Formats: sequence, structure tokens, C-alpha cells
Amino acid sequence: MAGRIRNEDIALVRERSPIADVVGEYLQLRNAGGGDLKGLCPFHDEKTPSFNVTPSRGLYWCFGCGEGGDVITFVQKMEHLTFTEAVQRLAARAGVELHYEEGGYAPRRRDGQRARLVEAHRIAAEFYAEQLASDEALIGRRFLAERGFDASHAEHFGVGYAPRGWETLVRHLRGRGFTDQELITAGLAREGRRGPVDRFRGRLVWPIRDMTGDVIGFGARRLYDNDDGPKYLNTPETPLFKKGSVLYGADLAKKEMARRRQAVIVEGYTDVMACHLAGVPTAVATCGTSFGEEHAKLLRRLLMDQPDARAEIIFTFDGDAAGRRAALRAYEQDQRFAAQTFVAVQPDGLDPCELRLKHGDAAVRDLIASRTQLFEFVIRATIERYDVSTNEGRLAALDAAAPVVAGIKDAGLRKMYAASLDRWLGIMDEELVLRRVREQGMRGRAADGRPVRVTGGRPDAGRPAAGGRSGHDLSDPDVRREWELLKFAVQRPAIVGPAFDELPAAAFTAPPHAAVRELIAQVGGVASAGGTDWAVRLREAAPNEQIAGLVTRLAVEPLHFTGETDDRYAAELLARIAERQLTSEIAALKVKLERLNPVEHPEDYARLFGDLVALEQRRRVMRERALGAP
Ligand code: GTP
Ligand code: MN
Repeated sequence: MAGRIRNEDIALVRERSPIADVVGEYLQLRNAGGGDLKGLCPFHDEKTPSFNVTPSRGLYWCFGCGEGGDVITFVQKMEHLTFTEAVQRLAARAGVELHYEEGGYAPRRRDGQRARLVEAHRIAAEFYAEQLASDEALIGRRFLAERGFDASHAEHFGVGYAPRGWETLVRHLRGRGFTDQELITAGLAREGRRGPVDRFRGRLVWPIRDMTGDVIGFGARRLYDNDDGPKYLNTPETPLFKKGSVLYGADLAKKEMARRRQAVIVEGYTDVMACHLAGVPTAVATCGTSFGEEHAKLLRRLLMDQPDARAEIIFTFDGDAAGRRAALRAYEQDQRFAAQTFVAVQPDGLDPCELRLKHGDAAVRDLIASRTQLFEFVIRATIERYDVSTNEGRLAALDAAAPVVAGIKDAGLRKMYAASLDRWLGIMDEELVLRRVREQGMRGRAADGRPVRVTGGRPDAGRPAAGGRSGHDLSDPDVRREWELLKFAVQRPAIVGPAFDELPAAAFTAPPHAAVRELIAQVGGVASAGGTDWAVRLREAAPNEQIAGLVTRLAVEPLHFTGETDDRYAAELLARIAERQLTSEIAALKVKLERLNPVEHPEDYARLFGDLVALEQRRRVMRERALGAP
């Protein structure tokens, strides 16, 4: 193949591409002494920096994963490019003209695929931006004006207009030497009946850039009433655009994010614009997908928080289910991340764009300033569901919130939130609150030897011990038994009878199971199950979709066949689960007894000992039942 890049040119590209600058476009670097720099490694997930850059030698090296090389290798690895492509990319960045060994001038079409697709996007963005001034785009300009954006704002963010014609962009890009296949691969066109047609038609378009500022996709807003497509249409997954790891606005926000140690996550493109214009330049948005693990990794690299200067990640949302779930997921993923996660709840459900429009820039800044720490947010949301004006309500709220507090891994933080919980509930007995929290913690640990990962006020938000998206790992025999018993409770309530209703919710170790158990209790227990609408009633009373979904599964999954009669099997499940629960209660009680000095507290000791004996006895009964005694 013709066209080796001349060695002198490669050397020049290296010289003009300082490694600290290039790496610095992807992650935050700080001084590591001796002229070296370090940051969080982009090639593996880490929380403390072990990725080192030595500008004097033009090299990088990660002590964590062993990845290392020079500026060209870095770009190759980061962008999944060939050597030539990486050199071309760096050359473009540094303004170096490349010469190829056979023939001197290299026609563009010989560039690597990525470079071609990026170039197509660059031209497309330019084209769309120009179109925004056309007569046809009046409707788009009006849309922007109605949301408080003028022409200079549109220009700053590169907002454009995609004409209504079938192949306006396709023709424009063909004229610039792009093949139909390239336009399809780029996601700019899709296959029509007679060749490729524009993907975005009659829409306002936002160019989505990667962190280095290259346009890699578009978000496109519907404008016309007769457009029956979705409100927002995004570039599909392409070699350039992976929506799970793109944050809209990151290119504009990254410097301020690092400086202020803050990232604000909003929902939409217009919200990012509004925030930046209102004086919140750290705002970014996901692109038509919810906030996930890859987004979190990206943020961590950009923020590079240090233990002594923790960055804040602030989610804004209007309190709707989607936003709440997004925030809760952050709680689920990584507790260190959760500890630095904040929630800013939008007054009257106004998003930042609407807020700025109605109440001005200051209101947007106030929204961000009014953030609440995620743990506090979740705990408060949990107790809000109870009537805390009564003792019963306060205690129920305490029991609902205790697992949330117990789920905080940092002991100091856990204690502080226990104290806060006491205050919020107005119980004024920190000891009682702490005890409930500790009991919850032990309960979780008793099940599988690890702490429960409680992830929200609702037990259903729990994470599986291993695998399983729904929050319960059915390969664990204990969890499996709970599931089978719940199937009986939903499908054959009469068989499990009052013994099921007597089983405490804590007997169910998988949080979603405890939630279903709680749900059953709320509608009156299996004792109230008469009629054929039992499962329907349960579904209707479910606190959220996840639990409703679980009820459905419980209602339709075939009952496990053991060869024994159903009632015999149900009784065994009940007894086994009760026995396991008693075992953990006994263990907890024994710990207490060991700590208690019988000489100093003879009465307490005698009482606890009596309890222990009673529990042991009940456990024996359960054990016998489980083994088949009547
Ligand atoms: P306008 O309602 O257009 O003023 O803007 P908005 O940003 O307030 O819209 P909305 O709150 O409905 O949506 C916020 C973000 O969610 C958008 O920017 C999109 O990224 C995404 N989104 C909304 N609707 C859709 C859709 O139909 N499909 C996809 N893929 N994403 C959407
Ligand atoms: Mn919105």
C-alpha cells in the first residue's frame, strides 16, 4: 500500500504534540514532583492516581495496569486507532502537514476510517449551523428564542438546523468526496429505498463532541407537528458514537469541572446551554440514555478528586421516577461516588432551561447551590412516606430508613447520618436510632457474610449479591428458597397460611424479596388473599415498577416441582427461612450477651439469656419442621 508517512514528519508530530497537553485533554493531571504528572488511568478503573506522565521523556506509564508508551501510542489506545491514524490525528491537532513517501500528497480518502468519519461530522455540523440562518429554519430559530437562546448562543454551542429534504446533507457530503457507505457508517444517513437518506430531517440539531472537541454525533429535536418520530433523535451507536460514555458539553465544561471540582448532570441539551449561560459552566448531560458506570468513570477522570479535595457530582432532576432512579443508581454503584453525589431537586419540576426562562439566571445558580447530599436525599425521601406526627409513624419511618443508614459503609458517616435521622424524625434518642441501624447492619451481614448493600429507602433498590439485575441472586440457595416461598404466597396463598404472615420481613435477605413481603403485609397479608384478583391487587399496590414486575413474575413462574406435595414443600420452605432468620437473631443476641457483664447487669443478663433460650427452642422446632415433622 502506498503512502508511508515520512519519518521526519512523524518526528515533527511528536515534537509538536507535548504529551502532557494531549493526555490532559482526556484526563486531569496534577503535579507529581520532579516535573512528572499523574492522574487517574484511562485504561483501567481506579480511584487513586497511578497513571504517570513524564513530559521530559515524552512518555506515560501506569503503575496500576502496566499500560505505557509515547504520545502516539496514547492516542492509538485511547481512540482505538492504527499508528497511521493516530499520527494523522495528532498532525491535524498540531497543524503539521504530512508527506507520504510514495507520491508526496496523500489524498484524504486514504485517511483512516475514524478520521474520515470525524471529518464528515465536522462538515455536517458546519452545514447544519449554516442552515440555521435559512428561511426554512425560522421554526428552529423560534424554538431557540422561546427557550431564551439567541443567535450568539446557538453559535457558541454550534446548534444547527437539518433541512426537511430527503438528502440535503447526503448530497452535500457526497460533493465533499464521502461515499454512501461512509455516511451510513457515520450514522448521518440511513438506508432508504433508493439509496441513503438524511437521518435528521426538519430538526434542530446539537453537535455532540467528545472531550477533545471532535464532533462525533448529533442530538436532534423534532420541530414539526407532522413529524411522527421521537421528540429527540440521537445518532445511533457508530464507531465514533457510544452513547453510554458520552457526556454532552464535556468539551466545554472540562476545564471548569476540574477547577471547581464540580460536575452538574442535567437531562437535556437545552439544560446544558441554560446552565452554562446562567453561570453554571460545569453542566453536562447524557445523550438520550441514563447515567451509567461509564459516565461515572469519565467524570472521575475529569474531576480527579483527591481525598482532601473531594469533587461534587450534582444531579438535577424534577423528582420524576427516571431522575430518581438515576440518582439511586449512583448510590448503588460505588459508595465513594455516592458520598460525593448530590441531588438538586427542581422547584415545581422546572428543568434548568425552564427555570432560567421563568426566573432568570440566578434561579439556576440557586438550584445548584441548594443541592442535598445523596444519602440525606434518600433518607428523607424514605421517611417522607410515613406520617411522622405519630409515634407509630415515627417508628415505622425509622425502621424503613435504618437499612439505608446501615448501608452506608463509612462508619463515621453512618454514625452521623444516624444522628441526622434521629433529628429529622424528632425521636430525640440517638441510642435507639443507632441500635436500629446496627441491627439492620447485622441482619444484612448474617445472610451472606457481607454487609447488605442497601441502596435506597425502598428495599427493592437493593443490589444482587452476585449478578442478576433484579436485585436477587437466585443461584444462592437461601435466596432461591425465599423466591419459591413468595411464589406460593402469590399463587397459592392458602397453602402458606398464617405462618407466612408471621414471618418478619427481615427473614427475607434479598431486599426485593423483603419488599414483596412488606407489600403483602400492607394489603393485609396472605390471610386476605381470597378471590382471583390477589396478584392483581398486589401489583396495584406495588410501590414501583420493579416490585410490580417481580409480582408478575412470581405470579406466572411455574411452582418448583419437588416430588412432594405442595403443602409439604411450602411448609419446608417456611421452616427453613424462619430457621435461618432465627439463627441470625441468635447470633446477634449472643454478641450482646458476650458484651454484657452478668455481675454488673444481672437483670439484663437474665432477660437476654431467657430470650436466647426461647429463640433456640423455636429454632429447634423449625429445624424439625423443615426436616418433615408435622
Ligand atoms: P424541550 O422540551 O425540547 O424544550 O427540551 P428538554 O431538554 O427539556 O426535553 P426533555 O426534558 O423532554 O428531554 C431531555 C433530554 O432527554 C433530551 O435532551 C434528550 O437527550 C432526551 N430525550 C427526550 N426525549 C427523547 C426521545 O424521545 N428520545 C431520545 N432518545 N431521547 C430523548
Ligand atoms: Mn426537560
